[in-house]
Amino acid sequence: MENLEQLQRQALERVEAAENVEALEAARVRALGKKGEITQLMKTLGGLSPDERRAAGQALNRAKDKIAVAIEARRELLEAAALEARLATESIDVTLPARPGIVGRIHPISQTLEELVAIFGEMGFSVAEGPHIEDDFHNFTALNIPPDHPARQEHDTFYMPGDGEDDRKVLRTHTSPVQIRTMQTTEPPIRIIVPGRTFRADHDATHSPMFHQVEGLVIDEATHMGHLKGTLTDFCRAYFGVDDLPLRFRPSFFPFTEPSAEVDIGCSKEGGQLKIGAGSDWLEILGCGMVHPKVLENCGIDSTKYQGYAFGMGIERITMLKYGIPDLRFFYDSDLRWLRHFGFPPLEVPSLVRGM
Ligand code: PHE
Repeated sequence: MENLEQLQRQALERVEAAENVEALEAARVRALGKKGEITQLMKTLGGLSPDERRAAGQALNRAKDKIAVAIEARRELLEAAALEARLATESIDVTLPARPGIVGRIHPISQTLEELVAIFGEMGFSVAEGPHIEDDFHNFTALNIPPDHPARQEHDTFYMPGDGEDDRKVLRTHTSPVQIRTMQTTEPPIRIIVPGRTFRADHDATHSPMFHQVEGLVIDEATHMGHLKGTLTDFCRAYFGVDDLPLRFRPSFFPFTEPSAEVDIGCSKEGGQLKIGAGSDWLEILGCGMVHPKVLENCGIDSTKYQGYAFGMGIERITMLKYGIPDLRFFYDSDLRWLRHFGFPPLEVPSLVRGM
């Protein structure tokens, strides 16, 4: 006990001399730790007489408190100094450019949809939509598709259960039912495109059970085949970015148009390389025609007063042709490597209305 005062003085000196938190901790352990000097002295109290023990105990506790208070004060000082030092060295340069984040890509189908809407929008078309689950009437009957038409066979169409043959539902096999829905609810003139999902039980490199189409419908009092040809020619030239792209209208058949045509665009396939533009080859890209009078009548439109044209094309197909995508199945695999390769940067303005 005689050297308590000296121990206390030395301990306080070490606390004051500690230059950092580690040195301070070492000083604390040396004085107050389990085997510290003051702690050791506490253990000798048992061997003293009661009077001596009380006096020595009080002296030891005072010394212990004093050292503990000094340690806390020093710790606060050291921590404040450490914070000051960190703030001084870690200043943030707000003029530095931000680190680039990971940016997603626009899916090629979305890109084409945007381009379609922009090009047809310039020509005065508005966008219409309809349900994916359709009834027989809108998908087939109203479109003048008789019950024995191949499109009605099970292997093409996804049927959904109903109570009977008449009320069964189908996943729409084309966007044409939206023609019907629009004509049923809208007074002519009508000028719409209908981009959307369609479904057929078919799956290979160029067919997917879910795919996209864009429908076009124009109904007015003096609309003729020349308007149809002009609109589709302007559209194809703008979409493919080829000013003199030749189009070929081949006679064809659809139950809901008369006359009907299939449209080919010019291309060349030299050396296995497909090039869209004037060339020695043709590629079929869409179906079209003048709306059949029966279809107009089915929708309550006077076919002696109004007529118009319609067209429909596969969005995957025109996307594959424009961007050189070889296999349709990858469109829906959500493979990030594919999406990074064929996708589009989100902030880039789409290559619209070129050639218009
Ligand atoms: N609905 C037809 C199809 O899916 C395409 C089409 C639309 C043809 C409009 C003519 C007019 O094949």
